[in-house]
Amino acid sequence: MKKLHYIVFLLIFFGYNINAQNSDAQIEKKIDILLKKMTLKEKIGQMNQLSADDMETNFKVIQQGMAGSVLSITNPEIANKAQKIAVEQTRLGIPLIFGRDVIHGFKTIFPIPLGQAASFNPDLVEKAARVAAIEASETGIRWTFAPMIDIARDPRWGRIAESCGEDPYLTSVMGVAMIKGFQGKDLSDPSSIAACAKHFAGYGAAEGGRDYNTTAITERQFRNVYLVPFEEAVKKANLATIMTAFNANDGIPSSGNEFLLKQILRKEWNFKGFVVSDWASITEMVDHGFCTDNKEAAEKAINAGVDMEMVSGTYVAYIETLLQEKKISIETINEEIRNILRVKFKLGLFENPYVKGNTKDVFYKEEHLNLAEKLAEESIVLLKNEAQILPFNKSKTIAVFGPLADAPHEQLGTWVFDGEKNHTITPLKALKEKYGKDSNIIYEPVLKYSRDKDSTNFDKARKIAQEADVVLLFLGEESILSGEAHSLSDLNLQGIQSQLLSALVKTKTPLITIVMAGRPLTIEKEVKLSNAVLYAWHPGTMGGSAIANILFGKANPSAKLPVTFPKNVGQIPMYYNHLNTGRPANGSELNLTNIPVEASQTSLGNKSYYLDSGTQPLFPFGFGLSYSSFDYGKLKLSKTVLKKEEVLEISFTLKNTAQYEGTEIAQLYIRDITASIALPVKELKSFQRITLKPNEEKQVTFKLPITDLAFCGIDMKKKVEAGKFDLWIGSNSEKGEKVSFEVQ
Ligand code: BGC
Repeated sequence: MKKLHYIVFLLIFFGYNINAQNSDAQIEKKIDILLKKMTLKEKIGQMNQLSADDMETNFKVIQQGMAGSVLSITNPEIANKAQKIAVEQTRLGIPLIFGRDVIHGFKTIFPIPLGQAASFNPDLVEKAARVAAIEASETGIRWTFAPMIDIARDPRWGRIAESCGEDPYLTSVMGVAMIKGFQGKDLSDPSSIAACAKHFAGYGAAEGGRDYNTTAITERQFRNVYLVPFEEAVKKANLATIMTAFNANDGIPSSGNEFLLKQILRKEWNFKGFVVSDWASITEMVDHGFCTDNKEAAEKAINAGVDMEMVSGTYVAYIETLLQEKKISIETINEEIRNILRVKFKLGLFENPYVKGNTKDVFYKEEHLNLAEKLAEESIVLLKNEAQILPFNKSKTIAVFGPLADAPHEQLGTWVFDGEKNHTITPLKALKEKYGKDSNIIYEPVLKYSRDKDSTNFDKARKIAQEADVVLLFLGEESILSGEAHSLSDLNLQGIQSQLLSALVKTKTPLITIVMAGRPLTIEKEVKLSNAVLYAWHPGTMGGSAIANILFGKANPSAKLPVTFPKNVGQIPMYYNHLNTGRPANGSELNLTNIPVEASQTSLGNKSYYLDSGTQPLFPFGFGLSYSSFDYGKLKLSKTVLKKEEVLEISFTLKNTAQYEGTEIAQLYIRDITASIALPVKELKSFQRITLKPNEEKQVTFKLPITDLAFCGIDMKKKVEAGKFDLWIGSNSEKGEKVSFEVQ
């Protein structure tokens, strides 16, 4: 009895909400009651998601109780009409859940997720997701198929744009922030939308960066890399739903992967939300050669633990027969429906099935646009700033060139279904409207779009450039070149953009290149030739305004690369947190042209690197400059020998030595030097944003719980192993003083 009192005391003391617990229990009871009443047909209906393509047919299907969800309705009247049929014209009145890909904004478009990750600012990212939820929910959407938290180490893969880049820790932090933003404080709030972490799992590791392709991830790699953000999403953000992936890993398509869905997701992580397949990924298991026909595909997906089927209709077609044939059990079906209903109850759909649809009051609100501008400013990475050419003062003649200077559609990026380009502020528009009074801005696109190969206007551009004080050249890729199924094998600038840059360089007018793209592009030559380079990703509705603010010093860049920039495609995959080889290159690698003719077989040292492009990337993970410059003081450790339950404190002074106020993102990396398995040469474990006034100095402290050093070792169990560790804190993954400590 005493023990029970103590537990209750602890629960209350630590703010555990007994009401919420009760309401969870109540929800389960309500589901019990509902499940008892449901016919088999009604059950099957809940597991079926329709696409909004043909709503007239859908209305009939809904009326027959054969749909639990519709994907991509964006008109509140149609949503209410469909909902009314489900609630008022079906026997049990179970509401529908409306889903949509609200990826980086709904109407107000924020930078692509890869750009958002570059902000290293989870607070802002959470706010952006909140805005997206507020705008989307006003149309009836209560479920987004986001965030995509696939680890993406290959920029050829078009969907890298939708990811948070290559790092499990950064992706986890950003994923959790996005989920919290979408789902709000309470899922039952009408402005909350259920998040869907995707794609479970390993989709980003597609062979050669070709979308949908095969992966070969081992269980240990899953647990130490690819699953980390998903586990965090489930455990730290109350994630409502998960989507399976298209890829087959080691021969098993994700929608039929019982080990991932049952053993890991349900048993180990205790996930209580529901699992949806990706678009027709169940029937695609036939194409994979994993199932003979759609019927077997339904069987395998159900038994693996896919609760809802996105659009391919096999559940509706085959569940009854599969039950009769005892290939699936009614217990499994009931459990899967329970998962779906639980989310519907949590969203408050039974109490509030309809939407007000006050879209005019909500879309593109000033505060939404301001947030989009701020996040874009914080996502733009300054890659080069020779002789502090940036920021520049106002009294200049500025020549603005390039296909991305005034491309309102392109700068929104991939996965934008609802944002409208007539709301976009392009760089040209912002430069003219915000800074045009004191500057003479001359615009000539020269190329109409990124792939344009017409050089007719090169001469005209050269003449304009000769007369100008500075050239702003907006290059990059159109939004259609990244995103789903838009992989590329060549990451050089498209068309003749590079030639345009070379032509303009010849005029000797200082040249600032601004790249807008959905992925890292191989721009080594262009960086060398430009005096300054800003990497703006696809920055969204307010991107132009953010770029203009940075150029004129109204905003100081702080973003850091969430992904390594390779020098060329041949270097891919290239990521900072790789394992060591037995023969690591020491940085003194040879240049191909310096190799003597008839050099003897072993004379080059037999190290792990490319003879023609070395070991170094163009820019490392975490890299990004500022108009300020920061000096890191010596690292002081609270202890050098620690127990597993202790917290290591690392302090240092950080000084802004420049005349601009600026924010530095200090990054903490560790290396577990020897363990039961080989571990990465560096791993990001924490970061902090520190804002300093000109010449200001601050004491910065990082707290690193030793439990954060846990990994899945030789016995496949996650734990911290005793031993020696190196630690760095610096401005990117290649910088920082190294210190060491030991865990006992
Ligand atoms: C994509 C998913 C997306 C779904 C619905 C699929 O093709 O892979 O990420 O959520 O379509 O639009």
